[in-house]
Amino acid sequence: MYSLAVIPGDGVGKEVMKEALKVIDAMNERESIAFDYDIFDWNSDYYLAYGRMMPEDGLEILKNYDAILFGAIGDSRVPDQVSIWELIMPIRKTFKQYVNIRPVKLLDGLAGPLKSDRNIDFVILRENTEGEYSDVGGTMFTGENRELAVQNNIMTKQGITQISEYAFNYARSHDFQKVTNATKSNAIIHVMKFWDTVVEEVAEKHPDIDYEKYYIDALAAYFVQRPESFDVVVASNLFGDILSDLGSAIVGGLGMAPSGNINPEKEFPSMFEPVHGSAPDIAGKGIANPLAQIWSVALMLDHLGRKDLHDQLVAAMESLLQEKQTLTPDIGGAATTEEVGSALIAKLYE
Ligand code: NAI
Ligand code: MG
Repeated sequence: MYSLAVIPGDGVGKEVMKEALKVIDAMNERESIAFDYDIFDWNSDYYLAYGRMMPEDGLEILKNYDAILFGAIGDSRVPDQVSIWELIMPIRKTFKQYVNIRPVKLLDGLAGPLKSDRNIDFVILRENTEGEYSDVGGTMFTGENRELAVQNNIMTKQGITQISEYAFNYARSHDFQKVTNATKSNAIIHVMKFWDTVVEEVAEKHPDIDYEKYYIDALAAYFVQRPESFDVVVASNLFGDILSDLGSAIVGGLGMAPSGNINPEKEFPSMFEPVHGSAPDIAGKGIANPLAQIWSVALMLDHLGRKDLHDQLVAAMESLLQEKQTLTPDIGGAATTEEVGSALIAKLYE
């Protein structure tokens, strides 16, 4: 029995979460796995009522769960900075979710914007807690027209080692052959050179997995030109952030992009969420694509040691896509969120 904290959030977050829970209910009935879940209404309405995004002991409450399933947050009545920095960020940082995983997989049945039938199947592992996204720095006034701003990029040996170790181990356990390092040590000569040195030390400890290194600018071009040549891409916080959105764009867009924020030691719960936000432009219309949220459930199953169930769920999504009957408008169909959820369950257990 696994305990699951569910935070649907705002807008389409609530709509797609409903379908993900339908899938979990169906699995509870039929599989040798059981989830006991609690739903938390920590969202923008909660903020407007209580002046905070979650209760004072919110993190204490979440700490006891095996995993967190998150929808999306964001509402025009609350500044985005508040909803993201007071809910998502504290969870990522407090629970040491230092790996952000984003699969870049072109599912069978989906052409993607590159209109290719190429075998695009790799993952981006982004360092999720340090590096370029640091709050060390500031703005200085040193005279009229001489203001300046400094922001430090802080990378630690421990931080680089643990994301690299995760990358090589992930490659091995998921039948990938190669790890690609996204770097820029030719221009960022202190921090990225240090990053390369540490990644390469780890690479030497994993001689069974191939290793290569590309500068981030060239790598971005290769993502478009030959995406089928990558397996596991390991990247710093900023580089991983940018590459992830590029990755999702080449395989079908935001409605098809899942992610996981992982604490590999399992000392704390990991959090799984679609990459997209609350999509206010389509919220309430019942046409949001629930597959990114459902795929995030699959990533959770993999993390909890049930790669078999992950694979089953992804196969059901592929069979739904190949059939092309029940898809939401963002990927060329005319079905509703609810219809896609139900059709997926039918595929899973037909
Ligand atoms: P967004 O991801 O909500 O929407 C971008 C575009 O993608 C929109 O055209 C939307 O209709 C479409 N889209 C998103 N999810 C979809 C789905 N499941 N099916 C079909 N189409 C989908 O990003 P945007 O508009 O920049 O942000 C809206 C709000 O979401 C903001 O308040 C923002 O801060 C928040 N946000 C929250 C995130 C989170 O909770 N992790 C991540 C990104 C944005
Ligand atoms: Mg991003």
